[in-house]
Amino acid sequence: MQDRTDDVHANGFTDHVLVCTTERDPEYACCGNAGGEAVLEAVKTWLRDRDVFWSRIHVAETSCLGLCSEDGTAIAIHPRSRWYSDVTPTDVPELLAAEFGEDASGVSRSGIERNEERKEEKEEESGKEEKEKKEGKQEPAIEAVAEE
Ligand code: FES
Repeated sequence: MQDRTDDVHANGFTDHVLVCTTERDPEYACCGNAGGEAVLEAVKTWLRDRDVFWSRIHVAETSCLGLCSEDGTAIAIHPRSRWYSDVTPTDVPELLAAEFGEDASGVSRSGIERNEERKEEKEEESGKEEKEKKEGKQEPAIEAVAEE
């Protein structure tokens, strides 16, 4: 066994996009029957167009990710620990731009760093909502009125 972690990092690898293409008995939903191959090709094309395919971002066709659907394919992006289901080929540009930036310039940021940013954004958003609630700026929640 060889630990190749340093080699991979030294080569500039940042992320791994896993696309499920599992096919199984059509009785059960699976990505292979929901456009998995087309989604995989759309992912590769988007990354190739930005010159990061297999240089910064590796792509792997994978088996079931546990997010099976009849409506699209499952994708996981690591080490960001991002998970998507129901992805169609037309969703791919938006999905990858959200993760890596429109021009894929976001690949240099680690997934952990990006997740921290997301967490801060969510906390900031929920803090704003709390503040607005306290100040009475939000519409009051509709309360159920029992009719007798
Ligand atoms: S078959 Fe793709 S996530 Fe299960």
